[in-house]
Amino acid sequence: MLGRRLFGALCVAAVGVVAYAALAWRPAIAPIDPPAPQSFAPDKVAKGRMLASAGNCATCHTAPGGKPFAGNLAMPTPFGTIYTTNITPDRETGIGRWSLAAFERAMREGVARDGKHLFPAFPYSHFAMMTDDDIGALYAYLMTVPPVAAKTKPNTLPFPLDIRALQAGWKMIYFKPEPFRPEPAKSEAWNRGAYLAEGLAHCGACHTPRNILGAESVGHPYFGAEIENDWWALPLHVTFSPQSWTEDELAIYLRGGTTIHGRAKGPMGPVIQGLAALPDSDIHAIATYFGDLIRPHSGRPEALTAEVLARSRGQTGAMADRGRQLYYAACASCHDDGGSTPLATRMDLMLSSALWFPWSNNFVLAVLDGVGGPTDAPGPLMPGFRDALSDEEIIAIGDYLRRDRLRQPMWPSYAYKVDRMRDHPPKPKESNAR
Ligand code: HEC
Ligand code: HEC
Ligand code: HEC
Repeated sequence: MLGRRLFGALCVAAVGVVAYAALAWRPAIAPIDPPAPQSFAPDKVAKGRMLASAGNCATCHTAPGGKPFAGNLAMPTPFGTIYTTNITPDRETGIGRWSLAAFERAMREGVARDGKHLFPAFPYSHFAMMTDDDIGALYAYLMTVPPVAAKTKPNTLPFPLDIRALQAGWKMIYFKPEPFRPEPAKSEAWNRGAYLAEGLAHCGACHTPRNILGAESVGHPYFGAEIENDWWALPLHVTFSPQSWTEDELAIYLRGGTTIHGRAKGPMGPVIQGLAALPDSDIHAIATYFGDLIRPHSGRPEALTAEVLARSRGQTGAMADRGRQLYYAACASCHDDGGSTPLATRMDLMLSSALWFPWSNNFVLAVLDGVGGPTDAPGPLMPGFRDALSDEEIIAIGDYLRRDRLRQPMWPSYAYKVDRMRDHPPKPKESNAR
């Protein structure tokens, strides 16, 4: 009896394995001779260059100090390190022998030319939405960049996560390759913005939280997520600063990286640098899309803005508080602008997203490492205070700003975070050529 049941169970399992293997198996696409760069129309190549910039292909596919697109950037994931591949047209180590069909399958389905499944650290689930025309332009551009011979380093994913065939199961659950579907009820600009943000620019790859299997949460789009090197990709569905984000403000931020809410820094810096290739109309379109999504500050934003700004202007009394003393000694010369309108270049920290956000990460990283490094959005510099202030002093300043100025509760595990982030300095990616 037991024997029969066991036999039955084994049969079911075997059928399951065979069925899975059949689904997981993808054929290789025949290699081709690398097409001659001159075979691509110059305007197609130019468009591909623009799209590659906005899609941050080089940001991920270039190692620190390495040749553009030659890969080997280490991408730490909760499961292990994945190295990006060489997407220059080198015959042996790059994608030189990939046909357009092979490239398109990789972009739409996350399957390499030889049929192996690619890991979702490659944001193909976003790229899948792109039009044939845009994918063709990217292919044309990549086939004309200088080929570089560079073998991709082996990943350090532990068994069994290193088995690529398992990715097929992941895809079955979490991924449907679908072209972008416009919302007929929305404007043309909104739809253009949605197409760019959801597809090529893959904003959700950072800003949407992921489940334990690393898939973006469908129910919580743009709810914010703690990503690489302790940075928080802030939520894009709500405003934390009392001065609410508007469509215009978003357009200014996406174009130049600086607003009264702060500067694009950490992993957001290269995003702004990459978007620089897009025309103003596309930037406005993305702003229209997120302007529609983002809710204003709850409560009484205008009154609250006036109140917190007044609080930062009227601070001249006794300096008994240690955090306050330190703030006036180290920060106020740049951050208390004294004028009546907030300025982006001498930003009043009372409007800063980093300070209002309920986790201290981005505030601590800005104070330790400064703002305006090579990968940040351009603008005036703020020096890093890593060597100038002790943990205890940074804690006192944050404490003063949160409690006295914002009248907000202290950040949870703040002291622990200051300590940890100092011990594990974030390693910013090098500025990559594109
Ligand atoms: C967030 C980082 C990231 C970005 C942005 C990114 N890639 Fe990748 N890409 C990867 C990783 C990681 C892999 C390797 C995945 C693996 O080994 O399974 C990869 C693999 C690929 C592959 C498969 C190559 C091969 O040899 O198997 C192609 C093609 C590719 N990317 C093209 C692009 C293009 C084109 C862009 C820009 C539109 C782009 N990638 C942007 C991370 C990225
Ligand atoms: C590689 C990860 C990454 C990608 C991709 C990314 N972001 Fe960000 N973004 C971040 C991080 C990290 C921050 C917080 C850093 C900061 O405030 O300087 C941020 C901050 C922002 C902010 C400021 C929010 C606030 O309240 O201050 C906006 C707006 C934004 N991103 C929009 C976008 C849009 C639109 C896209 C797609 C075009 C995008 N991001 C793509 C990582 C990313
Ligand atoms: C030399 C001038 C200078 C000094 C001194 C300075 N800052 Fe800054 N800080 C800046 C500039 C410039 C920016 C970027 C503002 C922008 O472009 O919107 C900035 C940005 C920030 C941000 C990021 C805000 C955000 O949400 O993006 C924080 C947090 C910050 N500063 C905190 C501090 C603290 C705390 C001190 C004192 C320990 C300090 N700063 C001292 C110039 C300075």
